[in-house]
Amino acid sequence: MSRGALEYDDFDPRQEALREALCTLGNGYFATRGAAEESEAGEIHYPGTYLAGGFNRLKTEIAGRIIENEDLVNFPNWLCLSFRHAQDSPREEGEWFNPLAVELLHYRQRLDLKRGLLERDIRFRDRHGRETTLTTRRLVHMDNPHLAAIEWRLRPENWSGSIVVRSALDGRVINAGVARYRELASTHLSHLSSEPVGQESIRLNVETCQSRLRVSEAARTRVYQGARLVDACRRALQEQGYIAHELTLDLAQGEGVRIEKVVSLYTSRDSAISEAALAAEEAVLEAGDFEALLSRHVQAWSRLWQRCDVTLKNGERSQMVLRLHIFHLLQTVSPHSIDLDVGVPARGLHGEAYRGHIFWDELFIFPFLNFRIPEITRALLQYRYRRLGAARRLAREAGYRGAVYPWQSGSSGREESQLVHLNPKSGRWVDDNSSLQRHVNAAIAYNVWRYYEVTQDIDFLGFYGAEMLFEIARFWASAVTWNAERGRYDIRGVMGPDEFHDRYPWSDTPGLDNNTYTNLMVAWLLRRALDAHALIGAECRQELGEALALNDAELSQWDAISRQLYVPFHADGIPSQFEGYERLEEFDWEGYKTRYGDIHRLDRLLEAEGDSVNRYKASKQADVLMLFYLFSADELAELFTQLDYAFDLELLPRTIDYYQHRTSNGSTLSGIVSSWVLSRSDRARSLALLEEALESDIADVQGGTTPEGIHLGAMAGTVDLVQRGHAGLEVRDGLLSLNPCLPEPLKQLRLRLRYRGHWLEVEIDGDEMHLHAPEGWCGVEPIMIRGQQHTFGAGHRLRLRFDHDQARWEAF
Ligand code: BGC
Repeated sequence: MSRGALEYDDFDPRQEALREALCTLGNGYFATRGAAEESEAGEIHYPGTYLAGGFNRLKTEIAGRIIENEDLVNFPNWLCLSFRHAQDSPREEGEWFNPLAVELLHYRQRLDLKRGLLERDIRFRDRHGRETTLTTRRLVHMDNPHLAAIEWRLRPENWSGSIVVRSALDGRVINAGVARYRELASTHLSHLSSEPVGQESIRLNVETCQSRLRVSEAARTRVYQGARLVDACRRALQEQGYIAHELTLDLAQGEGVRIEKVVSLYTSRDSAISEAALAAEEAVLEAGDFEALLSRHVQAWSRLWQRCDVTLKNGERSQMVLRLHIFHLLQTVSPHSIDLDVGVPARGLHGEAYRGHIFWDELFIFPFLNFRIPEITRALLQYRYRRLGAARRLAREAGYRGAVYPWQSGSSGREESQLVHLNPKSGRWVDDNSSLQRHVNAAIAYNVWRYYEVTQDIDFLGFYGAEMLFEIARFWASAVTWNAERGRYDIRGVMGPDEFHDRYPWSDTPGLDNNTYTNLMVAWLLRRALDAHALIGAECRQELGEALALNDAELSQWDAISRQLYVPFHADGIPSQFEGYERLEEFDWEGYKTRYGDIHRLDRLLEAEGDSVNRYKASKQADVLMLFYLFSADELAELFTQLDYAFDLELLPRTIDYYQHRTSNGSTLSGIVSSWVLSRSDRARSLALLEEALESDIADVQGGTTPEGIHLGAMAGTVDLVQRGHAGLEVRDGLLSLNPCLPEPLKQLRLRLRYRGHWLEVEIDGDEMHLHAPEGWCGVEPIMIRGQQHTFGAGHRLRLRFDHDQARWEAF
């Protein structure tokens, strides 16, 4: 396993779906799963191509009701490339190449993370004894987001003869990537037309049947022998939704051929084009050959790695997986996403789970982007800003003021959460109340604020951020109720991040009261809304105030609520997950583990048994503990004080311990939070949890979820664990602060951070730390290192050594 590549040295049909997700190539505009070019969708393979923001809606009748779902559409498969011998015998045509039907003498697959290249090296013998070497390379262009390319090198080792190569564009695809969704309507594409383009190319045009998104793909196929372009005999094949070129070639033993397929993809939403089909045609006619495309592609990746790499000295595997996570993050959202109106889908552009929807997972993703390519965060926040109208509508319809963003968001910003979901364990369709996770609105406010803190982008705050903060604050202010008995405000009828609890076992009404996480987040965001109001300047304040009819009384109300929200505590002082949590029964963790083995999704197991997880003190994922992930101890202390609750540091380990023992980690996000909260108190356990989190997709620890799409929040979260957890990176009160704490056996950590427009290089090596700002720094600015102020200026180098006696970093 190299530090810069994901490698497999066998072909294992049972692993293909997982490897296809993990070997996805993309560029933030579109992505295609790492299915073999010759493969077809079926039990083993699932070639899927997804466009950022490429959604469509379909209706299905389920359990007597009509439900409408919006899906990230699987667009035409452009990979299709295969070959066969012209004849297997005088009477028999050859069979199309299929790794399962030949004897594999050698098989190696490699995802080169540095260069963004998927490679295979195969040598095989067919049932007629013919041995062939096939070497393939593929890229989805990181410089020109509309291009992709495949190169096949074929070498007859012990035979000579004619072969037929087929290169196609296949629009007869449906969304069939997730077994649980198979009862739902899945045919999203209408076929418009297909046609040969010039001598060497073909084109396919489709349209989504409801959202009317037109997509055109064009493919140019060329064959080379050495440097010579071969004038192969070529014919076009066409049927509804499908077009191919078949090329017949004569090969001589030991003499290889090189087949190049260059593909372009445009949509009716692209800017700077006249029309998608025309643009696709022009692009494919103009594109250089594979080597020329590769060279610019590698340069684009190298620029990204220059900004985004994080290096660890902690074994090759951890380093490689960390890079794999950064790689997939940048393939899902990249500089090419900046001009698109898209959010960041929880499962990447790598599969169809959760239908490409956007949840609160941004919370785990933005910290990485904020310190490297904040322009992407800004664009992703604008996706939310543009949907403020839809969020206002949702609030109004639910009887509230301001704006409430949906738990699951897609094209328009309406609520895309399912009303019912299938429990595969029982085969039953169960009510889905997850849209009660209003806390997504706190996450959006948190993301706006953290983006501003890191970048000081006051224009963003003034033009977009403040309005979102105000409208979210206004929503919460209208959603709280005054509890006269307690003399505090309640938030009733919501769900916290822990999706196992959606109602009280003693009630028929969905929703829970006073979820601690939600209440504290709301108290925090109300204050940030007030801070933003003070920060944006008189003119902006006046304009927004007028536009939103915001008055002093409302601001005072936010202030009052932010100080008087109720937080439920257990008798021993531990914050309760929600009011009434202590009345739930303890869960028999050991018994269920023995019975079922994997109990990540014990909600499904219990429902299948006719029971309900709502009865137990058993959480899917971190809920109260999320607070420790998002806020430093100082910030928490401030928040508790603001609410006039006592805060004692000794509360932290007890709370962590309590909930750690009552969480199934049924969401991959949970492991990140667990590792984080233990990072200062139990470094060994924290590192073990980070290592588990690093394994969660590559080893598909949830048993079958990664083939349906990567878990982008958890992937980005691992990198954030390293930067915020191990480097102790924080921006508070306008100051950059570092407080490194590398867990054994992590010896060295290197990262580059973009902070207010400048780069800062950080190297932590055991007890030494080295900071350098190569391209200048914003004047001479203080930097906090473990609570101590150091001055840092343009071109400065700061060398520090940790003095264990004094427990502080000293310059040397
Ligand atoms: C988790 C949510 C998350 C969603 C998408 C669910 O399993 O419980 O917290 O937002 O997946 O990643």
